[in-house]
Amino acid sequence: MKITKICCIGAGYVGGPTMAVIAQKCPEIKVTVVDLNEERIAAWNDENIDNIPIYEPGLDKVVAEARGRNLFFSTDVEKAIDEAQIIFISVNTPTKTYGKGKGMAADLKYIELCARQIARVAKDNKIVVEKSTLPVRTAEAIKSILDNTGNGVQFQILSNPEFLAEGTAVEDLLNPDRILIGGDSTPEGQKAIQALVDVYSNWVDADKILTTNVWSSELSKLTANAFLAQRISSINAMSELCEKTGADVNEVAKAIGMDSRIGSKFLKASVGFGGSCFQKDILNLVYIAKSYGLNEVADYWEQVIIMNDHQKRRFSNNIVQTLYNTVADKKITFLGWAFKKDTNDTRESAAIYVADDLINENAKIAVFDPKVSRKKVLADLDYLETRTPSSNERNVLSFDSPYDACANSHAIAVLTEWDEFIQYDWLKIYDSMQKPAFVFDGRNILNGPALEAIGFIYQGIGS
Ligand SMILES: NC(=O)c1ccc[n+]([C@@H]2O[C@H](COP(=O)([O-])OP(=O)(O)OC[C@H]3O[C@@H](n4cnc5c(N)ncnc54)[C@H](O)[C@@H]3O)[C@@H](O)[C@H]2O)c1
Repeated sequence: MKITKICCIGAGYVGGPTMAVIAQKCPEIKVTVVDLNEERIAAWNDENIDNIPIYEPGLDKVVAEARGRNLFFSTDVEKAIDEAQIIFISVNTPTKTYGKGKGMAADLKYIELCARQIARVAKDNKIVVEKSTLPVRTAEAIKSILDNTGNGVQFQILSNPEFLAEGTAVEDLLNPDRILIGGDSTPEGQKAIQALVDVYSNWVDADKILTTNVWSSELSKLTANAFLAQRISSINAMSELCEKTGADVNEVAKAIGMDSRIGSKFLKASVGFGGSCFQKDILNLVYIAKSYGLNEVADYWEQVIIMNDHQKRRFSNNIVQTLYNTVADKKITFLGWAFKKDTNDTRESAAIYVADDLINENAKIAVFDPKVSRKKVLADLDYLETRTPSSNERNVLSFDSPYDACANSHAIAVLTEWDEFIQYDWLKIYDSMQKPAFVFDGRNILNGPALEAIGFIYQGIGS
């Protein structure tokens, strides 16, 4: 089957960049990305390429090349479904906030809405691709909806989870470690798999395209995120022990990372992981394990989240304790709000929880992040519902310049590892601050001895 038309439902952090790269690499395929969010689609279509809604290094160039040629962003979901041979579902699958599985299970209402809409609109055979991260066996539910409410057309469901990391999404999409495609073993299933393999083959080597059964593919994505998050919680657990024993977590990480069985990546101690995926996907894994009665499996993975929450709280507690057990009315400057560098995504960022703790202690939080607006910072805090929006507004100060953000503050907390923080004029910052001037480096990116030579009291994680 020659694929000439693709549609993707969901123009978010996954749908937008993924489809932009497919369009760039496959100029003969028309790629339409649709979303219900009119503001988001308008931003993707903004003439000024700097205004596209997602910040990722290199994404602007890819979009600029393909947009209007074979890459289109639209709110007309039905038309795009009707035209496409392959429909990617790339909508959000957040943790449920109500009912059974509240706080753990993935909320599949957006997925189900997509399935029902596809069933209603499709007039010819379609390949439906799960791009969103989904609980194992979701394809069964999607198939049931499509087969029972459709217009008698044939649907093939594939699982094709996305492994990109925010901040390096374009690079990851252009040079993926692997592409994973799960499908049925039937001849029709195999034909559908081949159609999607052919799309990726335009730029990905054959030996990096893995095909599996649907359930392995669905579960591999949850497993990958669980393993990645587990490494962070593991090194963070050791960071606390390092602080008590005089060991240095950076030295420990280097020593163990040189063991080829362990490897050096994802061993950086920090204030804790954030992002929309790790926590949600592990909670989902825990929920699935529990639902099969596998309580030991569930408890094992839940500990990764417990450790991460502990690390965030430990960071804010340490700030309070170090600042003589009170931060009331003290200005504490946050360098960074995004959950990691090179993205404007703040979902589940450690900064949100640390700020919430410190505001509970009546601190004034001054935020500077190169890519995150005050509006977003306040929305993140309001979402927690710890206090009223006007109270958050009073306690959060925002600045366009890092130097203004740091002036007069009692302490600086580094919450995101943006490269530019390393280059700042730290002497100028020191001179503008209250004394003693504290730096709490939640990412271990600053040169501690150099800051101490200036006069700062510097604390990293795990040393
Ligand atoms: N963000 C990541 O780094 C990442 C990486 C790999 C996988 N994933 C997974 O990919 C999925 C999407 O994540 P994201 O970060 O892109 O989410 P997102 O919230 O940025 O984007 C999802 C988009 O889907 C839209 N949407 C929801 N329901 C819709 C509907 N019925 N019709 C049209 N549009 C609809 C929303 O308006 C939103 O713009 C999730 O399952 C996530 O777990 C995310």
